[in-house]
Amino acid sequence: MFNINNFLHSNSLSPALEWKGYPKYNFIGGHNDNESIPVKSLKESIDNVILKEGKTLAKYGLESGPQGYLPLRSFIADQLKNSASIRCSEEEILIVSGSLQALDLVNQTFLKKDDTVIIEEENYGGTISRLNKLGVKMIGVPLEQDGMNITELERTLQNLEIKGIKPRYIYTIPTIQNPTGTIMSIQKRKALITLSKKYNVPIFEDDCYADLIFEKERPPAIKSFDDDGYVVYCGSFSKSIAPALRVGYLVADWPVLSRILPHKTDAGTGSLEQMTLAEFCKNNFNAHIKTLRAELKNKSNAMCNAIDKYFGSSADYIKPDGGIFIWINMPKNVDTSRLYDLALKQGVAINPGSDWSINENGRHKIRLCFGNPSALEIDEGIKLLAQICQKEFGVPVQIANL
Ligand SMILES: Cc1ncc(COP(=O)(O)O)c(C=O)c1O
Repeated sequence: MFNINNFLHSNSLSPALEWKGYPKYNFIGGHNDNESIPVKSLKESIDNVILKEGKTLAKYGLESGPQGYLPLRSFIADQLKNSASIRCSEEEILIVSGSLQALDLVNQTFLKKDDTVIIEEENYGGTISRLNKLGVKMIGVPLEQDGMNITELERTLQNLEIKGIKPRYIYTIPTIQNPTGTIMSIQKRKALITLSKKYNVPIFEDDCYADLIFEKERPPAIKSFDDDGYVVYCGSFSKSIAPALRVGYLVADWPVLSRILPHKTDAGTGSLEQMTLAEFCKNNFNAHIKTLRAELKNKSNAMCNAIDKYFGSSADYIKPDGGIFIWINMPKNVDTSRLYDLALKQGVAINPGSDWSINENGRHKIRLCFGNPSALEIDEGIKLLAQICQKEFGVPVQIANL
């Protein structure tokens, strides 16, 4: 009897589940706000650019080569200079298919099984799962409201040095850290560069939420303090415009980028998306992110109001300064992995903290994303979540509001 499974090489990945649509109350995933997608301007941009340059689609890499559409790289270089104080040229930018591909490319270039990396101990689930899959050891550094605990980072670097272990990189999400929402102070950004130089360890700076700070000023990127090629930087249009476009970028000095580029074996990121983005961004990007931030701030307020209304003081969190998620501390008896299962059965999707943390504390935390659901869905979904928490875990909730 023929069994295709006998031909698949065995590895630890479990089969994907069939997609059955999104849950009714979907508080997971980096989805953006539907109404904030600039549909009309994107349409005009496609129309313009396809008429002007559509024939260049005949060639892999258009007329721009393997690093991506040159006008888009020029926009990114200008934008990074103006908003993050990064000085880089188009030649130091590689357009990738979302920053997830940036993570994969950097990991393929820097890591092999049993290597060690340093990361913020509460971290993006996609980073943790990738590093686990590669068999790479993660050492966690605790986070404070203004970013990584620098004393602990230095202690970690010292301990590793004593053991003769050279970490392959320090990975950080300094601006609207995922999942904690913290923004690293300028002082810590500089301290990170100093430590990176002192211990000779590169930094991988993942800055995909930096365009989404609601009101505070965007700090200069860590890369802006680096003149010696210690920092590999990545960004994305997923959060600032739309995740389904799948366009992100890597910034690194050519000696590093030239080693990363051979790992990008997909013959280039979708060119129509790149062309459309370049055309759209040159006149619209800054105005667009201004309106998007205001909308996301409204959604964040809606989520915070709903949490306060239904959970009261049982859910402990810090109001986000930007981004699309809230990191919430639940009472200690709430096993949030179990809560995840129970809530999903009732159509409420949440991220259990254990997927977003490499320490034990994650067990009682949840991450809730507010970018995509409407204010009404947020209210109804959080109410349902509070009912489940009360029934299953005895969490004291605001009964009068349920
Ligand atoms: C910290 C971080 N890095 C990378 C990504 C990947 O985003 P994309 O591939 O859509 O750019 C995400 C998505 O949520 C993220 O939170």
